[in-house]
Amino acid sequence: MKAAVIGCGIQGRGGHIVNYNKMNDIDLVAVCDANFDKAQAVAKEFYIPNAYSDHRELLDKHDLDLVSICTPHVFHRNQTIDAFEAGANVICEKALAISSTEAIEMIEACKRNKKKMSMGLQNRGSAEGNALKQFIKEGGLGKIYYTRVVSGHVMNIPGYSVFHNKSLSGGGVLYSTAVHSLDLANWIIGNPTPVTATGTIYQKTHHMKKPEISWKGVLEDFETEDFAAGYIRFKNNSGLSIESNWLTHPWKMRPKIEILGDYGSAEIPLRIYTDQGNQVFERTPKITEPENPFFEVLKDFVDAVRDNRTPIVKFSQMLHVQQMMEGIYKSAETGKEVLIKN
Ligand SMILES: NC(=O)c1ccc[n+]([C@@H]2O[C@H](COP(=O)([O-])OP(=O)(O)OC[C@H]3O[C@@H](n4cnc5c(N)ncnc54)[C@H](O)[C@@H]3O)[C@@H](O)[C@H]2O)c1
Repeated sequence: MKAAVIGCGIQGRGGHIVNYNKMNDIDLVAVCDANFDKAQAVAKEFYIPNAYSDHRELLDKHDLDLVSICTPHVFHRNQTIDAFEAGANVICEKALAISSTEAIEMIEACKRNKKKMSMGLQNRGSAEGNALKQFIKEGGLGKIYYTRVVSGHVMNIPGYSVFHNKSLSGGGVLYSTAVHSLDLANWIIGNPTPVTATGTIYQKTHHMKKPEISWKGVLEDFETEDFAAGYIRFKNNSGLSIESNWLTHPWKMRPKIEILGDYGSAEIPLRIYTDQGNQVFERTPKITEPENPFFEVLKDFVDAVRDNRTPIVKFSQMLHVQQMMEGIYKSAETGKEVLIKN
C-alpha cells in the first residue's frame, strides 16, 4: 500500500516514517513539511522519492492508501479532510483537533468518503491497557463508578514542539500530553457518554520565582496552560477526574490512572484488586509489554485498511475525548459547568 506523511517533525519522522519503514507492504512514496528543507532532508534520509511543502500538491500528485497527519493541531482538520477527499485513509496525531466541531467534521468526511480513520495513541498498544480493559469488560470490577487520571511531566514543558503556542496547538498540557491518559482511561472503562465538564486551568510557569524547568524556549513565548484539572460526569452517573501538570514537583505522585468499581479497583501502571468485605485479592495478570506500542497502533491502522475493518480508535472514542477536553477548557474560561451535547 502507498503511504505519505504530512509533517516531518519529531512525531512524523520518529513515530510514523520510522515505523512505516518496518512494514514490508508499505511503500512510503511522499512526505510533506511546510519547511521544505526539512521535507527534503527526511526524504533523503529514508529514500522517499518525493518531497513537498504543500500537502494539497502531495495529495493531487499521488494516489494514496494511507496518509499520516503529523502537523500542529490547528492544521489537523483541513489536512485530514483534504486527505479523505483525495481518497486516502488517515491516521491523525493527537490531539485530533482544537474543537469538537472540527472533530465531527473530520469524522463526517471519513464516513462520507467511506474511509478508515485512526489516531496516534500509542497507549492503545500497551499490554497493560488491553489486559485491564478485558478484565473490566468481563465484569471483573462490576460497575465502574469513578475514574481518576493524573498525567503530565515532572518540571518538564516539552520544548521540542509548538505545544507552548496557543494559536498552533489550541491548548497546552491537556491537548498535548494528558490526552494520552484520558483516552486510555476512557477506552478502558468502555467509553461512557460524557454529559458535563467542569475545569480549571493555570499557568504556573509565569508565577514561579526561579523556574528551573526543562524548557528550551523563551518564557515570555509560553502561552498555553501548564496545569489543567477537570471533572466529567457521564450519562451512566459515574465520574472522572483529571489532573494534568507539566510542572509536577519531583516529590509528587507520578502519572497514574485509578478505576473504582463495585467489586474492586485497578490502576495503570497495572494493578488489579478485588475486595470482599475486608479481604482484598490481587488479580494483576502477568503481562509482557510490546517493544514498541506505537508500532502496534500504526500497524492496527494499516491492517484495518487492508482487511476493511474498524481501527482500534473508534469515532465515538475520538469525539468523547475531544468533548471532555474542550468542556474543561470552556468551563475554565467561563467559570461554569459546561453541558456536553450528544
Ligand atoms: N503520539 C505521540 O506520542 C506524539 C509525540 C509528539 C507529538 N505528537 C503529535 O504530533 C503532531 C506533531 O508534533 P511534533 O512534536 O512532531 O511537532 P514538530 O514541531 O516537531 O513537527 C511538526 C512539523 O509540522 C510542520 N508543519 C507545520 N505546519 C505545517 C503545514 N501546514 N503543513 C505541513 N507541515 C507543517 C513543521 O514544519 C514541523 O516540521 C502533533 O499533533 C503532536 O501533538 C504525538
